[in-house]
Amino acid sequence: MDRLTLTRPDDWHLHLRDGAALAAVLPHTAQRFARAIVMPNLKPPVTTTAQALAYRARILAALPRGAVFTPLMTLYLTDNTTPQEIAEAKASGHIAAVKYYPAGATTNSESGVTDLKKTYAALGAMEQHDMPLLMHGEVTDGGVDVFDREKIFIEHHLSDLVKRFPKLRIVFEHITTQEAVEFVREAPGAVAATITAHHLLLNRNAIFEDGVRPHHYCLPVLKREKHRAAVLGAAVSGNPKFFLGTDSAPHGRRAKETACGCAGVYTAHAGIELYAEAFEQAGALDKLEGFASFFGADFYRLPRNTDSITLVKQAWDVPREYAFGDDALIPLRAGRPVGWALD
Ligand code: DOR
Ligand code: ZN
Repeated sequence: MDRLTLTRPDDWHLHLRDGAALAAVLPHTAQRFARAIVMPNLKPPVTTTAQALAYRARILAALPRGAVFTPLMTLYLTDNTTPQEIAEAKASGHIAAVKYYPAGATTNSESGVTDLKKTYAALGAMEQHDMPLLMHGEVTDGGVDVFDREKIFIEHHLSDLVKRFPKLRIVFEHITTQEAVEFVREAPGAVAATITAHHLLLNRNAIFEDGVRPHHYCLPVLKREKHRAAVLGAAVSGNPKFFLGTDSAPHGRRAKETACGCAGVYTAHAGIELYAEAFEQAGALDKLEGFASFFGADFYRLPRNTDSITLVKQAWDVPREYAFGDDALIPLRAGRPVGWALD
């Protein structure tokens, strides 16, 4: 198969940033995806409906002329998010979900949740208003090995949460482990997961290939091969609980190539092409459309897209960098080929 036409996909987990960075990265996503769930971890974080609507307006204003793209906004959950804020978010019609970051887990998570118990009133309101909860599922305890933080999160928090709020729809974001795959598979129908392209294509060796590779550092961190294989197995399984979320997370070169570099892999420039590579390697290109274009829309109770894109099996070299405000953005595969291209 060297041509693949798919219903236009959506990206159910995306970082667009703001200002010049937003203008730099948005065209890549809008070229490929009809909609994206936009993460709220700006500085300061998007914690209110008013902030989310203002951010939405900035995204729409930054779209290239003629682009058709719908940003689906999210609120950043804090210890102080009120049930009233949830009701207001729902009523706005533009806020699709609420994002949970454990305080200190990742980029701009300082205002995140210090103790899930403090959010129970907000979670109850989300359950009532059918507002999905998107979880960065890692514990932040410095005593827990960085490669085990997702697994321990399931044991210490997620297992209990799904029982406490059985109707709350939960997306376990960017899953990276066999344990997460098994948890989601066996959890009730209200629990789903997103999967990134980089966690399908790379294992943790990629962080240390002939030296330290800061552009392969993300959170949750890449895991060992058996976990990559398990996550790939879930993505190509045809199980609608697993769907596409790139977690494309741009940081300028200066913030990545430094003594204490930021977490994030930029993939929006090849946001669907990289998944085609992974699915092809698994001999499962026929499963890509469900994963990329149907299951996420169904989970969010949004209509599936009706137009399409075509991918061709034609290698192209990824640019060594993209302009990024007054800095440069180093994309995944910089200077090297991707096997599939947008027609
Ligand atoms: O690698 C990551 N980058 N993981 C996250 O959870 C946040 C993201 C970012 O915003 O840079
Ligand atoms: Zn993310």
